[in-house]
Amino acid sequence: MGYFHCHITLVLGFFLISCAPLLSHADVGLKLPLKAVNLGNWLVTEGWMKPSLFDGIPNKDLLDGTQVQFMSTKWQKYVCAENGGGTNVVANRASASGWETFRLWRVNQSYFNLRVFYKQFVGLGGQGAGIVATSTTPGNQETFQIVRNDGDPNRIRLKASNGMFLQANSEMQVTADYGGPSSWADDNPSVFKMTIVSGGTLHGEYQITNGYGPDKARQILQEHWNTYITDEDFKFMSQNGLTAVRIPVGWWIAKDPTPPKPFFCRGMDCRMVCKWGINGRLPEVC
Ligand SMILES: *[C@@H]1O[C@H](CO)[C@@H](O)[C@H](O)[C@H]1NC(C)=O
Repeated sequence: MGYFHCHITLVLGFFLISCAPLLSHADVGLKLPLKAVNLGNWLVTEGWMKPSLFDGIPNKDLLDGTQVQFMSTKWQKYVCAENGGGTNVVANRASASGWETFRLWRVNQSYFNLRVFYKQFVGLGGQGAGIVATSTTPGNQETFQIVRNDGDPNRIRLKASNGMFLQANSEMQVTADYGGPSSWADDNPSVFKMTIVSGGTLHGEYQITNGYGPDKARQILQEHWNTYITDEDFKFMSQNGLTAVRIPVGWWIAKDPTPPKPFFCRGMDCRMVCKWGINGRLPEVC
């Protein structure tokens, strides 16, 4: 077995890197048919295959993209973006569905933007400290701190950027003007019961980098890349007659060296694969 040659193809938004052995140095074509295996969850995180990768993320049940609902404990009614967005936020619904569901855009472990059904963001800006869902871009006014009760993390209060807590003093309008006692009693209008919608959570690479922050994420992923598939695995595959591997990598590798936040430079991916893919022999194209 001689040299390996890396073929890089763009398919359906993923880069597929196939390393196939060649019969001779001069032969630069693929030897068909290939006998290949897919190496998922290696260079692109797939949470269901290795949930422990997420274990060190603070508030790991509130990853980016998680859908939540809030019930006012005082009224026992759900918070609702009236009309699904575009106007006031109220707390008068007996049950929760689309308009009562908010998607978290995670700023950091305790600060979030809340996106409503029609994709506006919950924010300050209504009359008399009223909370509305009108802005289509999340800024400071649309950023809230979720303060969780130590004993019951799904009992929460939401602090707005004006320093005040949200409250449902009336069912008909949620306002950002509670500065009273921070008791967790049911009759406190600033206390809400948060429900995390099941099936409404995402566990991908975005959640890793956003959840840990870029520095820690880089460390966690580097460790994963170094140990999940190793030179030994490639030797095993090669010895057992495989002639190619399919290695999904993220679309953001194409944006290297300045990928959109929170992804980071991944230019190393291809070099790493090719270094490992050939038992130490570097193919010419890598
Ligand atoms: C989290 O984000 C908020 C809002 O941008 C900011 O005020 C706060 O300092 C951040 N906290 C951390 C730990 O980065």
